[in-house]
Formats: sequence, C-alpha cells, structure tokens
Amino acid sequence: FTIAKPANDPFKGYLPGSPERTELKAELKRQSEQVVRIPLIIGGKEVWTDHTIKVTMPHDHQHVIAECCMAGETELKQAIGAALEAKEAWEEMPWEHRSAIFLKAADRITGPYRQVLNASTMLGQSKTVFQAEIDIAELADFLRFGVWSAQEIFKDQPLSTDGIWNRQDYRPLDGFICAITPFNFTSIGGNLPTAPAIVGNVALWKPSRTAVLANYYYMKLLMDCGLPAGVINFVPCDGADMSKYVIPHPKMAGFHFTGSTAVFQGVWKQVGENIASYANYPRLVGETGGKDYIFAHPTADVEPLVAALVRGSFEFQGQKCSACSRAFVPASLWPQVERGLKEKVAALKVGDVQEFDTFMAAVIDRASFQTCKGYLDRAAASPECEIVAGGTCDDSKGWFVQPTVIRCSSPYYESMVKEIFGPILSVYVYPDDQLDETLKVCDTASPYALTGAIFAQDRQAIVKMERALRNSCGNFYINDKCTGAVVGQQPFGGARASGTNDKAGTGLNIIRWLSAHAVKEAF
Ligand code: SER
Repeated sequence: FTIAKPANDPFKGYLPGSPERTELKAELKRQSEQVVRIPLIIGGKEVWTDHTIKVTMPHDHQHVIAECCMAGETELKQAIGAALEAKEAWEEMPWEHRSAIFLKAADRITGPYRQVLNASTMLGQSKTVFQAEIDIAELADFLRFGVWSAQEIFKDQPLSTDGIWNRQDYRPLDGFICAITPFNFTSIGGNLPTAPAIVGNVALWKPSRTAVLANYYYMKLLMDCGLPAGVINFVPCDGADMSKYVIPHPKMAGFHFTGSTAVFQGVWKQVGENIASYANYPRLVGETGGKDYIFAHPTADVEPLVAALVRGSFEFQGQKCSACSRAFVPASLWPQVERGLKEKVAALKVGDVQEFDTFMAAVIDRASFQTCKGYLDRAAASPECEIVAGGTCDDSKGWFVQPTVIRCSSPYYESMVKEIFGPILSVYVYPDDQLDETLKVCDTASPYALTGAIFAQDRQAIVKMERALRNSCGNFYINDKCTGAVVGQQPFGGARASGTNDKAGTGLNIIRWLSAHAVKEAF
C-alpha cells in the first residue's frame, strides 16, 4: 500500500460568529481559569515529583496556568530504561501500524483537538490566534509529511543484477533519541521527538518549560491515539540534569534539538568528549540561532518591502528563528521606507492574545524581556543609533516590548550582528554605489545563516544578490519576507552557526534517524 503526498492543513479564519471562534473562546476561558498539574510521562505512566515549577502567561506574568513536575536523576534513568524496553516491539511494529498512530493524531489535531492546542499555545507562549493557528496546523503537517517522507525513503532500493538481489532496509538507530525542544513553536516541540519515532525510534523529550502546557497536551494526544508506553517519554527537567544523566549515556544514539547555538555547541562538545563510550556515533541534528535579514536593492518595490519588514520582524514578537532582525536599505529608498515603517509600526496593536485583533503579544519571559531592554537602553544612549519607531518596553503586567526599528550608522553595531530574539529590527542604510561591499558585510558580519530575503525588480540584480548571499542562509526569499516557511513547500533549516540544515519535515531530516542495512543475496 502507499499513501498519497499530503496537502497542508488549511488555516481557519476565526471571523466573528464563526464556530471556530466560539469554540476557541470557550477553550481559552476554560484554560485560563484552571491550573493544570503536569506530570512526567515515563513508560506510559504519569510520574509525579516534588520538584515542580509554576508556568505563567507571558502577557500576564502573575497568572499561573500550570504547575509542572520536573524530572531528576531517578526519573531520567527510569525514562532511559523505559525507552530501551519499548524499543524492540516498537521497531518491529509494521510500518503502517506505527504510521496509523501519527496520522490519527494529525486528524485529531486538525479536528476536535485543535482548540485545546491553540488555546494552550496562545496562553502559554503568548501567541495571537493566527500565530497559534499556523503553529498547530504545522504540527499536523509535520506528522503527515513525516509519515509520507518515510515511505519515500523506504522505496529507495539499490540496483540488482542477474542472480543477485540487493536490498536495503532502514533500521531505527541503535539506542534512544534525546529531543530538546524550544518555546517558540508547539509544532517544533512535537516534531523533534516524533520525527524519529515515526521511523521506529524511541525517545526522551525535554520540552521547554515555557511551552510545557501545549507540549503536554500533545503528548497526551499521542497516548490517546495509541502510542505504546515508553516510545516517547515526556521528561521536563533542568538542562544540567539532561547533560549529566542522558547525553553521555552509551545508548544515546541521536540528538534532535532546536534552541540556542550555545546549548547545541555545548552538547556537541560533550558528545565529542565522550565519543569512545557510545555504542554508535550519535547523530546530532540542531536548528539554532539566527540573524536573519532583508536586503533591498535600489530597484526594490517599496510597499511590499515595508510590509515584509514589519511582518518578518514583528510577527510572533520577533521570536521566530526565521524572524528578520536586520535590514540593508539603499539611501535612495530610505525616506520612503522610513515613512512606511513609522506609519505601519505605529498602527500595530500590541496586547492581550485573547483579543482577536492583537498583532503582537509579549515576549516569552523575564530573561527575554531583559535582553531586549538592554538593547533598547544601549541604542537610546548610542551616538551610532537613531530610534525610528517604538523603543520602549513595559513589564508591569506582561513582558511587553514595543516593536522597534533602530537605524544604525555602522553595519557592525551590536544589534546589527548579534542575535536578540525579540521585536527589534536594526537597519543599515547603505550608499547606493556600495552594493557589492554591503552584500559582503551582510554575508560575513554575523556567524549565522538561517533565513534571508532580497527585494529587487531588476533580474540581473537578483542573480547577483542571490549568488553573493548563497551561503548566508538555508532559506532564501526573493521579493518576500524571510519568515513563514511551510512544511512540504519551503524545507526549513540553516547552516553555519544556525544549525546542521537537516530540513525539518522532510526526508532529509527523517533519514538522519535511520541506519541503512544493505543485504546482498546470491541465487
Ligand atoms: N516555519 C517557520 C518560519 O519559517 C520557522 O520559524 O517562519
């Protein structure tokens, strides 16, 4: 049997009076009136620990919505045991039966479970309704495209000749996978342990503490859809415990990560130090930091350029790995671009996620707020900076940072080159006759290479810019914003300090969780 290539899940509109809006409002009310107690899930069982953390809403930071148990040494060791115990039966389960669990989960996500995940993502991660809707639709896409990509990989067989039958089977990795996931996408949280599991691996999953509510609901859904005990073990914990008890384990066969460059490099180093004690060389797959850009040519069309700068920089509070955080604008276009940015940014509604017309909500936590505030304070005091729009922040109720545009006189000013991960766009206005030099600066000034976009009407310019910026990103956009990659359409991932570029949601990622076994049989 074969399954057809899936289509992306269509987004719902949430218009006033629509059934989805009514349902979501009721779910938001229900979830904001309760404090969910979140256990660990190890070997299919709920495990309660004394070490707990409180989960609050970023846009209303005194409001607790969950209390989550944290795993320590005992539970992490139990989770490794449970994963290894589940391994054989899971690996031997026929592929179509494993797939059925994930396809059923995808159907539930796009059906009756949608608003549970949307509401928990909105409240826990401070996403507006449309940010959450895109996220949850992507979670279903990851499952469907993951199953389909696995099928396509398995089809690939070596050449056979007369009297010789060569075949290849694709085994899961010999051990367990360790998945550490970020706060900014419920979909990535779900995908990192699930993609390896689709092809028969078992996993430990450390969700981000600030996304743990939506991630817990997803974990429960998988169990309800029949995921066998121990295949994925849900173990929120401190990073230090993960690194002490899990990463160096001899059966740690793969590491699936989205988060900071520093953490990924730390794990890589630790794996290197322990390399002789592993049963296999662990597969290290990471999507890390970014300093994503939009680069405008003098022939750029200004209106879509301004729209892309605003949406690319400020949607989801600038807390997407793909978010635009630096722009290069030619001097000849700057007066129009500046006017457009001032107008559009002033009109953005920043506030509560439960108001359906909110454009931007709060950044995720105190640490993120303070990082942003530091950049704003230093920019306000720097002779190298001019605040074009925004520039303020307020933490009295939630972690709110106003969408901010800073014009920098140097392309090397700190906010032009360092990752901030917040709603702050830095702009360098370059002399029109210095296009080549400025392209070089864009390519080399930051160590990252995740996403980038150019705006130009002149085709020769597009060719030249694409060539000059070829290695500066894993996802390149021409006359569009540098965010919004869709599973199955724009395979997502970056290189250099941004990660191993094993495009999420594609066969390029799934294949990292497989160890091919080649067989030659002579007749
Ligand atoms: N798919 C997302 C985007 O490109 C990842 O952050 O925006």
